[in-house]
Amino acid sequence: MIKLNLGFLASHNGSNMQAIINNVKAGKLNANLCAVISNNRSAIAIEKARNENIPAFIVNSSTHPNNSDKEIVRILQQYNVNTVILAGYMKAISKYLIDSFNGRVLNIHPALLPKYGGKGMYGMNVHQAVIKNKESISGATIHLVNEEYDKGPILAQKEISVLPEDTTETLAEKVLKIEHNLYTDVLIKISNGEIVI
Ligand code: GAR
Repeated sequence: MIKLNLGFLASHNGSNMQAIINNVKAGKLNANLCAVISNNRSAIAIEKARNENIPAFIVNSSTHPNNSDKEIVRILQQYNVNTVILAGYMKAISKYLIDSFNGRVLNIHPALLPKYGGKGMYGMNVHQAVIKNKESISGATIHLVNEEYDKGPILAQKEISVLPEDTTETLAEKVLKIEHNLYTDVLIKISNGEIVI
């Protein structure tokens, strides 16, 4: 059993982060909730972290011109993080950050990679493209992060049907719902050795 020391990077709402926190609190996932960092001063994720008494920080190119990833690594290491969770983090991650955690950096993406990944494909843009292309399935992917956007090894995927009446908004809602369980499922498997990263 590997004890996961989780550090979260989140840019906006942080519902994936909150779902993981809830599962830790419910005893479903054995992990320490070490720190939360956002690049966005008004991220609801920061409020959520503070409500949970998790140390929370804002780090971006205004607070740390030229070396924000260095500061992120410094904070995460200070809180003994061994697994970094990108939870709606809308910034590219440097090799320095990835290497500092021996590649133990996970991301969740709101589509079935390798489709609908890459630069510009994030958040609602993804769902818009899926609807525009009249796909009949979409879903969510958890993958390890490497230096190329959305190209790291896939750890898990879950599919959902896209119905003819789905809109960008209803699809986003449906995908987010499955994301919340998928992230915890993968973390449980990492913690019990079923998935080795
Ligand atoms: C989620 O749908 C996540 O998959 C997506 O942003 C949303 C964040 O929601 N991430 C990306 O598009 C990353 N490329 P949350 O802040 O409520 O967890």
